[in-house]
Amino acid sequence: MRIKDSGRKYGTITILFHWVTAIVMIGMFILGYWMRTLDYYSPYYQSAPRIHESIGLLMFVFVPLFLFWRLGNRNPDDSHLKDYERLTAGIVKKLLYLLMLMLLVSGYLLSTIGDTPVQLFNWFTIPAFITIDESKLLVGKIHEYFAYILMLFAAIHGAAALKHHFIDKDDTLARMLPNLNPKDIQETTKKEDK
Ligand code: HEM
Repeated sequence: MRIKDSGRKYGTITILFHWVTAIVMIGMFILGYWMRTLDYYSPYYQSAPRIHESIGLLMFVFVPLFLFWRLGNRNPDDSHLKDYERLTAGIVKKLLYLLMLMLLVSGYLLSTIGDTPVQLFNWFTIPAFITIDESKLLVGKIHEYFAYILMLFAAIHGAAALKHHFIDKDDTLARMLPNLNPKDIQETTKKEDK
């Protein structure tokens, strides 16, 4: 497998970045949703938000790294796509990055309201670099709606990838999957790797 992205396929690093990001974002959504159902007497009342915040802090580093890695790599060829598919796929991918970043920033702002530092597991605390003078309820709602919108776009994006795989039978999804023999990837493009 190639480390870097090529004209035919995403490389190992991008595939790792993508699937870790997808799994963590979906997991964080489920955790955040469940957290809101906990009452004060739940044994997870303190620990669940701490885990949610700590993973959020790690993603603060991980998602920009994913984005910078992709900006420094080439895009696999998409000449097999129809014009409107290329346009919508491009917009949705950019929106996914933007929504993830907005979700992470709003989560950090929510955690640090009132100048409260954020705990990264039990390792160390990250101070409140920026504090905003807004109600926790409002910032919490903004964070929550970003999460809903991200999940909506991720669902559309995942459904589109499955449609390409099972209905159009092209290699859009295959090239974001690991351990594929390059021969398994259909020749939707005749371009050579450079
Ligand atoms: C929260 C969940 C997800 C997030 C945040 C996410 C995010 C992204 C992002 C940012 C890209 C663009 C990578 C780039 O080219 O720079 C991407 C590409 C891709 N994703 Fe996802 N993704 C998610 C879930 C899924 C799922 C569930 C599937 C499949 C069922 C999927 C399949 C793909 C494929 C095939 C590509 C490459 C598309 C292409 O070559 O045009 N993703 N994803």
